[in-house]
Amino acid sequence: MELVYYGQSCFQVSLSKAVILIDPFISTNPLSKNRDISNINPDYILLTHGHGDHTYDAEAIARNSNATIISNYEITTWYESKGIGSTHGMNIGGSYHFPFGRLKMVNAIHSSSMPDGSYGGNAAGYVIETSEKTFYHAGDTSFFSDMKLIGDEFDLDFAFLPVGDNFTMGIDDALNAASLLNTTTIIAMHFDTFPVIEIDHAACREKASAKKIDLIIPKIGESLTV
Ligand code: NI
Ligand code: MN
Repeated sequence: MELVYYGQSCFQVSLSKAVILIDPFISTNPLSKNRDISNINPDYILLTHGHGDHTYDAEAIARNSNATIISNYEITTWYESKGIGSTHGMNIGGSYHFPFGRLKMVNAIHSSSMPDGSYGGNAAGYVIETSEKTFYHAGDTSFFSDMKLIGDEFDLDFAFLPVGDNFTMGIDDALNAASLLNTTTIIAMHFDTFPVIEIDHAACREKASAKKIDLIIPKIGESLTV
């Protein structure tokens, strides 16, 4: 399975049956400013919550690609009111069988509002179970003990976890999360974009290896095969 990292929490996941783009914040990301988004053509755009560092490019990419926006009901309704034709609203605890596999919307402990201040529902994470891989994108969240429920229900191949601290978990909590999630592979996200979430890469790697966790710290624009 191929991944492309676009910075902050944005990953493009290419599955055999669909290309999924999660939390697009690309064209105004201070680390990758002015990156052209017109050649990003997903089938689905998943949004974990309404904050601009997760949704900034969703509308433009949805218009270009006719991708279906999947998010909580409040967020999909907000995009519908802007004329986005294809959306799929969900809520926490619900799962749905999409052509690419089963997607479950799970809890996140965070806030959510739209860039214009509209109510953005509750922040969420996603578990995606496919014939290729099963993985968890935590969105923005603190560490919480119910991550164990995700680890019990799913056999995760890896988890996208925030590590930048300040707005979300930091590395120590992310490593504890991996143990509740019962996975040994973390793909780091939500780091370095702003000064308050800069991380010490070497220190993070050291902490991960002490806990026998395979910590992947992706570079923007990098393609990864997982
Ligand atoms: Ni946020
Ligand atoms: Mn964020």
